[in-house]
Amino acid sequence: MNVTRNLNQPVNRQWLMSRRPVGDLSPEDFQYKEGPVPEPGDGEVLLRTLYFGFDATQRLWMTEDGGYMPPQAPGTPVRTMGIGQVVTSRHPDYKEGDLVDGFMTWEDYLVVRPESGPWPLRVLPKANYPLSWNLGMFGVGGLTAYFGTADVLRVQQGDTVVVSAATGATGFVVGGIAKALGAKKVIGFAGGADKCRWIVESGHYDAAIDYKSDDIAVRLRELCPDGVDAYYDNVGGDILDEMFLHMKPRGRMVICGAMSQGYADLNFQGPKNYGQIVTKMLRVEGVHLFYFADRIEQGAKQLAEWVQQGKLRVEEDVHEGFEKAPALLMSVFTGKNPGKLILKAGDPV
Ligand SMILES: NC(=O)c1ccc[n+]([C@@H]2O[C@H](COP(=O)([O-])OP(=O)(O)OC[C@H]3O[C@@H](n4cnc5c(N)ncnc54)[C@H](OP(=O)(O)O)[C@@H]3O)[C@@H](O)[C@H]2O)c1
Repeated sequence: MNVTRNLNQPVNRQWLMSRRPVGDLSPEDFQYKEGPVPEPGDGEVLLRTLYFGFDATQRLWMTEDGGYMPPQAPGTPVRTMGIGQVVTSRHPDYKEGDLVDGFMTWEDYLVVRPESGPWPLRVLPKANYPLSWNLGMFGVGGLTAYFGTADVLRVQQGDTVVVSAATGATGFVVGGIAKALGAKKVIGFAGGADKCRWIVESGHYDAAIDYKSDDIAVRLRELCPDGVDAYYDNVGGDILDEMFLHMKPRGRMVICGAMSQGYADLNFQGPKNYGQIVTKMLRVEGVHLFYFADRIEQGAKQLAEWVQQGKLRVEEDVHEGFEKAPALLMSVFTGKNPGKLILKAGDPV
């Protein structure tokens, strides 16, 4: 495999989804290929990719159903959120050299029709922060955390807030936003003692529950003796079931993701204790970033303000080496470092 990229004699390195995966992802679900650089047609742009973001939802796109996106077809380059630079433009709104983010694929070069799909290619503003932040803090994780916490969960002064997958790209930011909005106590679920220590030391969380070894019912009773006002759910499964039992009357829950379900299909375990929705008159609502497409700028501006004020910390885990893409995606479900997982594919010119 040619792991370096020669910009003078470009070859298009690609990672394809070789077959439709069954169950957990494995290396055999991916195939490396090299091909020619594609040519853009009218209304299209040719991009050179710079960064790929890794999201659990990519596994959902690989299913027969696809979730909320058209299913990824076997034999095609793996779909990803990414940052790229325009090499050639045949579209009036994009010019050579523009830095853009949006839906891309695991390859060096790709042709994009900017308006196609649910999320148009966005020209990135000139900024004094690292380019990769557009995938994390100002990308899917940070923005979903913002709209989920401020708009859907409506965290307010004095709330006790609990967040699952609190080391993740979304959950970590949720903790900081909840504090910025005046929550009294913010508690996160994390896997293992080191990650629990890390979320508290980061300043985004007041306390942590180790979902891998603690008795979570006991810990929730200790940490939230008066109950929980707001729960941000990234995991579903047993943790969601238990959380119903610890909510205050008229508590709020937002369902953002279901990490515990593996995303190999859409047949998720349903909540066991949902009778509590009635008896405590809970409000349970989903969040999906697509529904906030017209408010991205506002969300990013608020996040930037909090970052500047030191209320939010940017946490990312950036790797280099195109060959690592499949292994990094697999690590999302088997154990990754805290923060936004990113692969750097190149520098802008
Ligand atoms: N609705 C939307 O618009 C939207 C947008 C973005 C993300 N999401 C969803 O939000 C969730 C988190 O995504 P992310 O990108 O923030 O995370 P991420 O950075 O990929 O990290 C994954 C997280 O999941 C945790 N995790 C993995 N398996 C788990 C399990 N079986 N039980 C409990 N926790 C588990 C890990 O925790 P430990 O390392 O502590 O074990 C890690 O914090 C995903 O479900 C994703 O689909 C939804």
